[in-house]
Amino acid sequence: MVKLSVVAAMAILLVTCAQGKQVRARTESSSEHVLIARQASCKTQRSIAKLSVSNPVAAANRVLEIKNVMDADANSWIGQNEVPDDNVVTEFQVPWSRGAKFEFSANTLGTYGTGYLSLPWILDGYSLNRSVIATKGNKTAKAPFYVNSNLNHEKIKRAVIILPGQWRDSWNFINLLGNAYRVAQKYPELDVEPDELLMLSPVLFNQKDHAAGALKSNEIYFKDSGWFVGGTTRGPSGFEGISSYTVLDHFVRFALNSTQFPNLNHVVVVGHSMGAQAVMRYSLLRKSDGNDSRISYWVGNPGSFLYLNDQRNATTSNCSSYNDFPYGLEGKFTKYARSEAKDTSSLLRRFKNRRVHYSFGMDDNGGQSDQCAVTTQGPNRVSRGAFWIKHLVSVFDGLPQSHTADFATCISHQDYPMLAHYQALKFIFSSQLD
Ligand SMILES: *[C@@H]1O[C@H](CO)[C@@H](O)[C@H](O)[C@H]1NC(C)=O
Ligand SMILES: *[C@@H]1O[C@H](CO)[C@@H](O)[C@H](O)[C@H]1NC(C)=O
Ligand SMILES: *[C@@H]1O[C@H](CO)[C@@H](O)[C@H](O)[C@H]1NC(C)=O
Ligand SMILES: *[C@@H]1O[C@H](CO)[C@@H](O)[C@H](O)[C@H]1NC(C)=O
Ligand SMILES: *[C@@H]1O[C@H](CO)[C@@H](O)[C@H](O)[C@H]1NC(C)=O
Ligand SMILES: *[C@@H]1O[C@H](CO)[C@@H](O)[C@H](O)[C@H]1NC(C)=O
Repeated sequence: MVKLSVVAAMAILLVTCAQGKQVRARTESSSEHVLIARQASCKTQRSIAKLSVSNPVAAANRVLEIKNVMDADANSWIGQNEVPDDNVVTEFQVPWSRGAKFEFSANTLGTYGTGYLSLPWILDGYSLNRSVIATKGNKTAKAPFYVNSNLNHEKIKRAVIILPGQWRDSWNFINLLGNAYRVAQKYPELDVEPDELLMLSPVLFNQKDHAAGALKSNEIYFKDSGWFVGGTTRGPSGFEGISSYTVLDHFVRFALNSTQFPNLNHVVVVGHSMGAQAVMRYSLLRKSDGNDSRISYWVGNPGSFLYLNDQRNATTSNCSSYNDFPYGLEGKFTKYARSEAKDTSSLLRRFKNRRVHYSFGMDDNGGQSDQCAVTTQGPNRVSRGAFWIKHLVSVFDGLPQSHTADFATCISHQDYPMLAHYQALKFIFSSQLD
């Protein structure tokens, strides 16, 4: 089993990182010959990736010059950890792990579409805990979360709060984070030590999971995917209307509590895909509490952004709602966003100074959304990322110093390789920039 996935890992590496030669050799039997027309070679990608570290704006321009990058043909896209020939889904260690141990994630019953039947509670190295999020009279509502077990509170110097993706699989994401943490420790220059990190992943379940029986009667749940835009709880009864961003505020406070973690300096809020869409919006909307300099945000491969004005340069397509929340600062807001977005100029001033890093996989060039508001931001995720960098430049008259970005070589919409690529390891785990 393990051997097989190593072979599969090699296969996907060869395929995703294929130069012309490999792709040509496979054109007879499969569809990925189209890739050569749309994806820059790994050599070109490596040079853009390198440039992006020092000059993300120049790199964004180069990404938008990649041949056919604006053509979102989902059929020619290598998506989530798939070997294109046989559709085997593989989850495996990255090739640059330097021997770091890779743990597989827990499974559970149910799906994100129909609702989960339970939250996995037996995980190697992590535990499922609950925190009181609200109290009314003698009733309390609790927010479940995963956290690394056997914490030595005195040793903890840093916290990473990781959000799940659309699958609401927090147990998977905390495990991937732990895997990436072990990879980071293999790079001495990052100065990342074991046992110094608090890892936490809030559970953001919805009404389907509630109905399917995954939650206790006093545990909070949201509606559908509403959590990613700051939507509010629909229960338990008596505890409706708590924003998912208030839940994030709660866990940030939990980490920054010096009684609990006396030596903790910094908190990083992290998300990939839908989780990244949530982190991007939270980094803009998070209420001020004087702790901004101790919090940073990692945004990996988001499907869309909350634009800061009504300008869109990606397409000529238009729809009356393209600038409405959650894609812009007009229309109907969720409760938390409404109170924070009242005054656009102070919102922007605050955002400009927050520390945000964007990572974009240069092979994340398929998976077109047909939502008009999203397509006005770009035809696929990597181009949306490049347009976003240009948007920041135009809004702030240059890319704000505390907003950085990198374009990652030969990675697609792959959560773990994104979390574990060098620029992410550096931003998420290393304290050198704090
Ligand atoms: C989580 O729960 C376990 C088991 O009850 C406990 O030992 C641990 O201290 C809790 N961790 C946190 C961070 O609350
Ligand atoms: C909780 O409060 C309600 C209403 O105030 C009361 O009727 C009920 O008896 C209380 N339950 C307990 C266990 O104290
Ligand atoms: C920062 O966070 C801590 C912990 O939640 C809180 O007590 C404090 O009021 C916040 N603000 C400042 C300025 O420290
Ligand atoms: C910090 O943790 C202590 C001990 O658990 C708790 O009593 C206190 O209320 C917490 N403070 C904040 C600001 O949450
Ligand atoms: C879209 O259409 C509206 C109204 O017709 C117009 O005001 C707006 O500038 C257009 N936006 C784009 C991006 O073309
Ligand atoms: C969008 O295009 C206009 C006109 O070409 C240009 O002035 C503007 O700077 C562009 N904005 C961005 C964010 O690229």
